[in-house]
Amino acid sequence: MYILEISHLTKSFAKHQVLKNVSLQVPRGQVFGFLGPNGAGKTTLIRVVLGLIRPEQGTVLLAGYNTRTEFKKAIAKVGAVVETPKFFDALSGYQNLILVKNLHRHVTAARIQEVLELTGLTERADDKVATYSLGMKQRLGIARALVNYPELIFLDEPMNGLDPQGIIEVRALIQALRRQGITVFITSHLLHEVEQVCDQIAIIQNGAIITQGRLDELLRQETEVVEIYTSQPAAAAERLQKVSYVKKCSVCEDRLLVEIEKGASAALNRLLVTDNLQVNYLIPRKHSLEEFFIELAYGGRRS
Ligand SMILES: Nc1ncnc2c1ncn2[C@@H]1O[C@H](COP(=O)(O)OP(=O)(O)OP(=O)(O)O)[C@@H](O)[C@H]1O
Ligand SMILES: [Mg+2]
Repeated sequence: MYILEISHLTKSFAKHQVLKNVSLQVPRGQVFGFLGPNGAGKTTLIRVVLGLIRPEQGTVLLAGYNTRTEFKKAIAKVGAVVETPKFFDALSGYQNLILVKNLHRHVTAARIQEVLELTGLTERADDKVATYSLGMKQRLGIARALVNYPELIFLDEPMNGLDPQGIIEVRALIQALRRQGITVFITSHLLHEVEQVCDQIAIIQNGAIITQGRLDELLRQETEVVEIYTSQPAAAAERLQKVSYVKKCSVCEDRLLVEIEKGASAALNRLLVTDNLQVNYLIPRKHSLEEFFIELAYGGRRS
């Protein structure tokens, strides 16, 4: 069952069409990465889903409720951090969260402690937000979005501007949310970061979805690439040219880059050793989301 279903969404600003017939399905309980370059339409899509702007065409179903006809029910179980969250800087993190709690009758002060704990802010909760680092503000934004027990949370560029430590913290937090059964919808242009936390992705370019699906399936290949470090690269390359499961072989300084049929790396290793070609290292190269994106965007491998 999908927690978010978007069908044929179209949105323009003046004459500029920013979302072009966008359809997306987000399964419950997963981390969904919505990727695309600057200006592709990621934030605009989140704004439409949250009812902050109106689309010209299309439907949005949240937990099965149509946002046009049953907005209150649709939005009840949704939290969001859109772009850089704003706070009352002169108040503490805790006080900022209490303000949100007061908007919801069923939320208790214990819930505030819970979301502070989850986002790693308990120790600094009584300090003014003005003294927080960017990473802490980002986490306080997530804490605020969690106050009302959402089942789906939108995080718009949660890693933006963070240092490596901050990125690791946000990544761990996203994984913790998933463990609690919360569906996380995250936008990013940091493909490497997204690759480590997402189950599903969709890629948007110029307002149109160019691909979507399970990350492992999208990155699955019929062939694999291994790097071979050997003291005789030229001789090894010559030997490998004649092997049926080797698709491509090139020499780069002291190593070979060999594209082989999936699962053939052990046979490849055996062959070289039998022929007295010393293998120092054999390293599998993972096909990265970044390579996939570049191929897709500029190579037209899939549509
Ligand atoms: N309120 C607005 N009025 C006019 N144009 C807008 C408005 N909001 C967004 N746009 C335009 O829509 C396009 C998509 O913007 P959007 O913010 O959705 O992109 P994005 O994918 O979130 O990019 P980024 O990675 O930079 O956050 C851009 O060309 C932007 O200039
Ligand atoms: Mg944006």
